[in-house]
Amino acid sequence: MQKIAVCVSGSGTNLQAIIDGVKNGKIRQTEIALVVSNKKEAYALERAKKAGIDAECISPKDFPDREAFGRAMLDRFEQYDIDLVVLAGYLVIIPEILIRQYKNRIINIHPSLIPAHCGMGYYGLKVHESVLAMGNKVTGATVHFVDEQADHGPILLQKAVMVQEGDTPEILQKRVMEQAEWEILPRAIDLIGQGSVSIVNGIAHVKL
Ligand code: GRF
Repeated sequence: MQKIAVCVSGSGTNLQAIIDGVKNGKIRQTEIALVVSNKKEAYALERAKKAGIDAECISPKDFPDREAFGRAMLDRFEQYDIDLVVLAGYLVIIPEILIRQYKNRIINIHPSLIPAHCGMGYYGLKVHESVLAMGNKVTGATVHFVDEQADHGPILLQKAVMVQEGDTPEILQKRVMEQAEWEILPRAIDLIGQGSVSIVNGIAHVKL
């Protein structure tokens, strides 16, 4: 049984997909032990509490520097004996101390097909604005392992989503969440929990 911590910053619809996935058996061998947000007003914290999951705000603003913030996050994860950290709409750059201690044990959901429309400054609606501005006909979502660079580590799962005529960033964001994010993030957690994922020479492999 893997114990996961889910890091959130906003509404928590990806968190909700994980909560539902554990409940309905789509995500096996997994316990959501902790939910952490950098924003105390994040609705995602409400979703966690409603599901009976320990939830708290740990904000970088409450620490003198990134190292101290990272240490506080690490201490909490060690206290809860966390095996896997899941970034689900989490808008904080992960401190190096966490990436070192949790090498290949932090995953992130990004709302595009990496390496397109990703990196510093590409988050939330900005990603979909970029897709529409480029005139892409296909976009999607990516689950990847987190390393020192933003949206850069080994890609684990991707799912494509069609862009439609008349799409606004909001309409496209909703479609990418519904058709891709809420499917591949739970699936990634299940695969890791089943021991079906390996990383060789920086490439993630899934053995079914
Ligand atoms: C969304 O833009 C989603 O695409 C990205 O994070 C944002 C908030 O998601 N992954 P959530 O509703 O808080 O899970």
